[in-house]
Amino acid sequence: MDLFSDIEQQEKEELLQLRAELTEANRLYYVENAPTMSDRDFDFKMHRLQDLEKIYPELADASSPTQHVGSDLGSSKFISIRHRYPMLSLGNTYNKEEIEDWVRKLPTDVEIVCELKYDGLSISLWYENGHLTHALTRGDGVQGDDVLRNILTIPSIPTTLNSPLANLPYVELRGEVLLPWENFERLNRERESNEEPLFANPRNAASGTLKLLDPEEVRRRGLIAYLYYLLGDQLPGQTHWERLEMARQGGFPISDAIRVCHSVDEVMEFITYWDTERKNLPVATDGIVLKVNNLQQQQALGYTAKTPRWAIAYKFPAEKQLTTLEKITYQVGRTGVVTPVANLTPIQLSGTIVQRATLHNEDFIRQLNIQEGDRVWVEKGGEIIPKITGKEESDPNNATASYTFIHTCPECGTNLVRVEGEAAWRCPNDTSCPPQLKGKLEHFVSRKAMDIDGLGEETIDLLFEQNLIRNIADIYDLRKEDIAKQEGFGDKSAEKILSGIEASKHVPWPRVLFALGIRMIGETTAKKIARRFPSIDTLQWATTEELTSIEDVGEQIAHNIVTYFQDETNLSILVRLREAGVQLTTNLQEGDNTSTRQSLAGKTIVISGTFSRHSRDEYKDMIEQYGGRNAGSVSGKTSFILAGENMGPEKRHKAESLGIPMVTEDEFLQML
Ligand code: IVH
Repeated sequence: MDLFSDIEQQEKEELLQLRAELTEANRLYYVENAPTMSDRDFDFKMHRLQDLEKIYPELADASSPTQHVGSDLGSSKFISIRHRYPMLSLGNTYNKEEIEDWVRKLPTDVEIVCELKYDGLSISLWYENGHLTHALTRGDGVQGDDVLRNILTIPSIPTTLNSPLANLPYVELRGEVLLPWENFERLNRERESNEEPLFANPRNAASGTLKLLDPEEVRRRGLIAYLYYLLGDQLPGQTHWERLEMARQGGFPISDAIRVCHSVDEVMEFITYWDTERKNLPVATDGIVLKVNNLQQQQALGYTAKTPRWAIAYKFPAEKQLTTLEKITYQVGRTGVVTPVANLTPIQLSGTIVQRATLHNEDFIRQLNIQEGDRVWVEKGGEIIPKITGKEESDPNNATASYTFIHTCPECGTNLVRVEGEAAWRCPNDTSCPPQLKGKLEHFVSRKAMDIDGLGEETIDLLFEQNLIRNIADIYDLRKEDIAKQEGFGDKSAEKILSGIEASKHVPWPRVLFALGIRMIGETTAKKIARRFPSIDTLQWATTEELTSIEDVGEQIAHNIVTYFQDETNLSILVRLREAGVQLTTNLQEGDNTSTRQSLAGKTIVISGTFSRHSRDEYKDMIEQYGGRNAGSVSGKTSFILAGENMGPEKRHKAESLGIPMVTEDEFLQML
């Protein structure tokens, strides 16, 4: 009895944990375009969550990631519009037997259209009275962002309907926008030389590209599209295939890799053929989509909340290869975390040569029971990042491996520590361990922190290696000649960096606090702390009790703050930052007094649209700095709307109906 309730408790916790994890993974994937989880892991976790939700219906929650498709909404750079027909996702499986079962459960005379599953992002093109009027991203499936201007850069997409689709009042074509491998690699090469973060895969690159505000840059990157689904009010055709053919004749980009199948065997043939052949395609694919061809049969099968019952996706297995684990080396990250790395005998995998893979942490290595010299399986999760999934069963070394993690930091020799409950070993020497020093410098200059133009990762590395900067205070002692004499630099670039450094002296205290890089203090927490402690001098003497009374600040963060100020090196850095003129206190600008600074006191302000003078984040900061409150949605309590260009129609409508005033960017700045 006890055992059961234990298991139940554990599974319920697992369910909640999976929900949180998948919600965050969705956000990173769709909004940030910076996934941390491979598609495969995501799919497996999603299936597990679905199973657990079936076992524990009492934990049902409409906001669970099993109940809706991931959302790419999250910025208001584009107008978002409600889909005429919801944009669903597809049920998927990695298991061929499940595909066979799915086919066998269909009516016997059924025809199945097999298509490639393109790994880009979905788009919905609206043709109203023959003209392309909107191009919506999937968004949250219910509404999407209108990215028409960017879609118009794709030459193969017609802007008007041609015969046989001409004269139809409303046609919607759905498909996938992709960045071909070649363009993806070129883009990443450029980003590397500009010290910009690289895209993990073509899908993320395509998604990031489609959300750019500059269509010329979008054109330069070279997106393409394949369309695979037609919707509309009075569309001709009895089958999916016929409709695709009509679209093809009408000049739309429809893939040739489509086959109408009449049996499980034909479906399997298609799968087997494309599992190898897809490696020669110019774009990324991650599976096969099977669709019931006959539209009446489709209708009869219908939909679940999230997916059609008349279609399913088979996902290709990750490519796997055996190779030798030659050596385990260790990498010290920017936060002191020591990550073991597998150095492998190079092998060819999904189009690239793999010779290194992460081993994550000590527990991971122990679970795989591997050691140097073993033959190991390497897979590419999400087709990009290689990982080791196990060792060869017949390996003569297959006895229990006696692996021990290193005890001292490979960079600075300090004894490593492993905090209870954490998987990672960490180097505690955050005041002189080189990668940690560089990490602090990079964080300090980053956009959301001091935003110092011209000081990217590579430049920091260079100045660090030259001993010109070792800590954040050194940045303010840099001289023009120090920079200008470096290889690849000149007077101009040195001046640009210096003026970026100069400008950073106006960055307000809450952002400076974030920039200091005290462990676990993110942007939002920094703001909350700075509101309570409006200067470094007050914060320095804050007690744990005072700190933990701030929202979001727990024991651990309070401890990190207190120990930060106990460190001599930190204190001397702060003295130098103050001397340099960095804002270590909430600054009353010249001519300001407290009452004008509180000019937004008691006001609740909603920001909507795009702005030219400051970023959205900057406006948020200003509202808070001047005593106002920034709210996400319009309600009766809203005092006014800070309205930029292209304000969302729903917000505008709601504001109008509630009689809430709209304030332009310029009017707002004048108010302050
Ligand atoms: S059909 C209602 N066909 O896969 C069915 N989708 O996981 C609509 N995808 O959101 C989708 N290739 O972005 C369909 N040949 C194809 C596809 C395809 C890629 C994407 C699409 C969809 C996702 C589902």
